[in-house]
Amino acid sequence: MSESVSVLISEEELERKIDQIAGQINRDYAGRQLHLLCILKGSMFFTCELSKHLTMPVTIDCMAVASYGNDTARSGDIALTLDLSEPIAGKHVLVIEDIVDTGYTLSFLRKMLQKRNPASLKICTLLDKPERREVPVDVDYVGFQIPNEFVVGFGLDYAQKYRNLPYIGMLEIEEGE
Ligand code: PRP
Repeated sequence: MSESVSVLISEEELERKIDQIAGQINRDYAGRQLHLLCILKGSMFFTCELSKHLTMPVTIDCMAVASYGNDTARSGDIALTLDLSEPIAGKHVLVIEDIVDTGYTLSFLRKMLQKRNPASLKICTLLDKPERREVPVDVDYVGFQIPNEFVVGFGLDYAQKYRNLPYIGMLEIEEGE
């Protein structure tokens, strides 16, 4: 079996888009303090790059969830595997995701976080694969809508590999030697 990766979204395109999203967030949250929630592991890179462009006071926390489906067949069976280190009550919270696929993860997170009484709760994702959606989810900031291809890089993995690529690539796996 051999794996190959071709560029779908270049490093330069990512930089331009992240700068643009940050501009929107800077306008929307001007004069307020913003609490970013990085959903591990995929959104590490996006959270870092985006946060560098934000101009308001920013705090960052991390959480992780696990889905009991797999990469091609997800399920709505989601569990929290790492909780936040601080309460979010009264804070303006922005959840940062790398990709919305079926929507199960964000649907689970939104319900769970809303119960903790943030002052506001919005969602930002770098990538959106609308063709794969199984549950509706309102996303406030979207970087790129992408086709139903297996993507890796800039935080996204295949079997935990390729997260370190500086661009978003399409992964092709060929059977045989
Ligand atoms: C990815 C991604 C989202 C989720 C989206 O995480 O980071 O959290 O899948 O999929 P959904 O919309 O179908 O729920 P993954 O489970 O691959 O974990 P990772 O972030 O650690 O790579």
